[in-house]
Amino acid sequence: MGKPRALSTRPLFPAARAILNEHFDVEYWTNAERIPRGELLRRVADKDALVCLLTEKVDEELLSAAPKLRVAATVSVGYDNVDVPACTRHKVVAAHTPGVLDETTADFAWTLLMAIARRLVEGDAWVRSGTWPGWDLDQLLGGDVWGQTLGIIGFGRIGRGVARRAQGFRMRVLYHDQTRANADVERELRAEPAGFDDLLRESDFISLHVPLLPATRHLISREAFEKMKRTAYLINTSRGPVVDEAALAEALDQKKIGGAALDVYEHEPKVHPALLARKDVILAPHIASASVDTRTKMAVMAATNAIAPFIGKRPPNALNADALGL
Ligand code: DGY
Repeated sequence: MGKPRALSTRPLFPAARAILNEHFDVEYWTNAERIPRGELLRRVADKDALVCLLTEKVDEELLSAAPKLRVAATVSVGYDNVDVPACTRHKVVAAHTPGVLDETTADFAWTLLMAIARRLVEGDAWVRSGTWPGWDLDQLLGGDVWGQTLGIIGFGRIGRGVARRAQGFRMRVLYHDQTRANADVERELRAEPAGFDDLLRESDFISLHVPLLPATRHLISREAFEKMKRTAYLINTSRGPVVDEAALAEALDQKKIGGAALDVYEHEPKVHPALLARKDVILAPHIASASVDTRTKMAVMAATNAIAPFIGKRPPNALNADALGL
């Protein structure tokens, strides 16, 4: 009997390919452009396993088009691209890549935080333009980071990583989450729980670390901007639709907040046109987890999730293991 068949919507990295190739006959989508939806549906139709990116939707349509599919492994921790209940209905294991990208993503949230506060991107552009006249007293004045209040919305592994880094900057850390962290964690990270509105009112920096759910879509709305300090900076490394981009553009325009640094967008890869020309915004191309080591670990984890059902193992990061009785 031949090997089971898998589709990977990216060539991944050698370490992940080695795992997949040992267990599957794998078809890799290697074109530079993203796999078109029609192509994805056509190619997955006869596959037993799918390894995909957050840019591919695993939904009822795809699952119906792939009757043999047993596992769909996304190379991401966020899984808003995967309809988990639909996977369960189709008896498909849905899996993601938690844990391996927390520190790298927390590093990048800090990269954005410091860069927006200290106007690094504006400064870089100025120097490169050849028009910088040399040092002067009032050039590119930004906000301090040290000693300020950092508000973290979503206090999971990444949010906590961001809090941990704040200690070196002697910041006051507030967090808002549905679940209160235990006392040891609060003590270790010197983090205080706060109501959503209190956090918005008191924070100099607001960093978002919630998953995209119906309840978190446009969590940062026009009303939320009204409550923030006029000097506050918003940092988003979670999911774009958590922030109402039109409301953000308006808030910046009306100087309701000091600035924003975004790694994710409401309609990726599109960015709200009003944000593109603004100097008080940093726009990064969804790279918070993009270190060589971390992206390799994510791909290896997805490959390991994909092979598990075929070697009699419980996929280590299945989202519906219990629902499937694994
Ligand atoms: C994820 O994994 O969800 C990130 O957005 C990409 O690393």
